[in-house]
Amino acid sequence: MPEWLKNAIFYEIYPQSFCDSNGDGIGDFNGIISKLDYINSIGCNAIWLNPCFESPFLDAGYDVSDYKKAAPRYGTNEELIKLFDEAHKRDMHILLDLVPGHTSTKHEWFKHSCKADKNEFSDRYIWSNSVWEDTLELDCIRGFCERDGSCAVNFFSHQPALNYGYAVCTKPWQQSPTDPAPMATREAIKDVMRFWLSKGCDGFRVDMAGSLVKNDVDGAETIKLWQDFRRFLDDEFPNAALISEWGEPDKSLAGGFHMDFLLHFGPSHYNDLFRCDEPYFSRRGKGSAKDFVQAYTDNCLKTSNKGLICIPSGNHDMDRLSRRLDYDEMKLAFAFLMSMPGAPFIYYGDEIGMRYIEGLSSKEGGYGRTGSRTPMQWNSERNAGFSDAKEDLLYLPIDPDIDRPTVEHSLRDENSLLNEVKRLIKLRKAHLALGNFGQIEFISGEYPIIYKRSFDNEEILVIINPADKIFEIPLKSYKDVLYFVGAKPRLFDCSIEIQPVSALFIKLQ
Ligand code: NOJ
Repeated sequence: MPEWLKNAIFYEIYPQSFCDSNGDGIGDFNGIISKLDYINSIGCNAIWLNPCFESPFLDAGYDVSDYKKAAPRYGTNEELIKLFDEAHKRDMHILLDLVPGHTSTKHEWFKHSCKADKNEFSDRYIWSNSVWEDTLELDCIRGFCERDGSCAVNFFSHQPALNYGYAVCTKPWQQSPTDPAPMATREAIKDVMRFWLSKGCDGFRVDMAGSLVKNDVDGAETIKLWQDFRRFLDDEFPNAALISEWGEPDKSLAGGFHMDFLLHFGPSHYNDLFRCDEPYFSRRGKGSAKDFVQAYTDNCLKTSNKGLICIPSGNHDMDRLSRRLDYDEMKLAFAFLMSMPGAPFIYYGDEIGMRYIEGLSSKEGGYGRTGSRTPMQWNSERNAGFSDAKEDLLYLPIDPDIDRPTVEHSLRDENSLLNEVKRLIKLRKAHLALGNFGQIEFISGEYPIIYKRSFDNEEILVIINPADKIFEIPLKSYKDVLYFVGAKPRLFDCSIEIQPVSALFIKLQ
């Protein structure tokens, strides 16, 4: 485990929408560099940058056409390297987004793979033997090139699936993960990782990491594949960090990932907390965190604290927190996010309560995700300080609400969400019990949610009450009230009265 992950707090940047330094209406590397001090001032010391490589941008850059070239709209490779250097000067780290499961149809590998003549790239992707034969459980594209065959796709139909083989082969065109072509795909991706790591990048967030080997029901072959990547990194780049979009930490961590995301799909019950009709963190108090707590606890047991399970505030694929939660409720959501184990991830703009913008037309394959990808709101200047461009050139429109939150305004207001997030991060950094590796023991998953965090001899009780009612919690002894947000709790001899829509951290020892 790289040392720097021990206290890493991440900030996710969707580069299109963060900060435009050259007035073309789209964010760029120099814009990000100009905001590193802001990110640092929140307390975040690491960044996950969404894909920033050359791409036709039919899926916001998750359709790479050249893994080794920065997308010109964001800047040059040299400017990206400068971003790494500027981050390092501030003791910050940068993860790039690695998309190993598919490329764009515009990638040179794919163009070669489409040729009728056999060549080095013929089996770089998954192809059936005939255009009349589909690729079974995977969707496919066919009838568009001279090669006879159907090509499997991994996500959208313009994202052909790279070939890492099949755990169980049922067709002659399916290859085993250790056949030469799937092995060559692995080496090609290692080569991409080596390219950026040797230029100063600090690791990768890995897109769809759990689905590389096909027909792999229990994940065993995909785990083996990642163990191979792990050996490569241990040998050549031991300080590089890896986080997976997998959502099954028992598998991803066994594969050698340091961290796995808790995802908004799959069995995590993450959505129960923030993104359903009755989210747990709503003051209506009709939600439940019980299933989440159960799933989370199971995962902790299964992984025996080997790596980090990371709970993001949101990401570019899901609704903003503010779509379901009001401003005060979001403070409680952050009290939770910043007091859970694992490295926290803040999606840009969530720290000021940016809104999900309804009714936008899809941009770059965003569809319903587009409303969570609008430009960052920095100040009250033109285009909220995101860009000098004319309004119609902006990547996406700025939140039209005249009362939209901005960084400038949030900094001035002592009670803003941003200042709350800063206080929470400061506290997390001051107490290892609240940090990435502190232990957790849940006491209640109803209202209020209660858990004990501990590290060495320190124990901190976290009580978060989103509901609009008072609760009295038995509590015999404690040392100190470390933090509260919302109305002040009332402390009695053997109990504590927690107020509606409030949170409290108590040092037990
Ligand atoms: C997951 C990414 O987060 C998402 O934005 C993308 O569309 C798909 N993977 C396909 O790469």
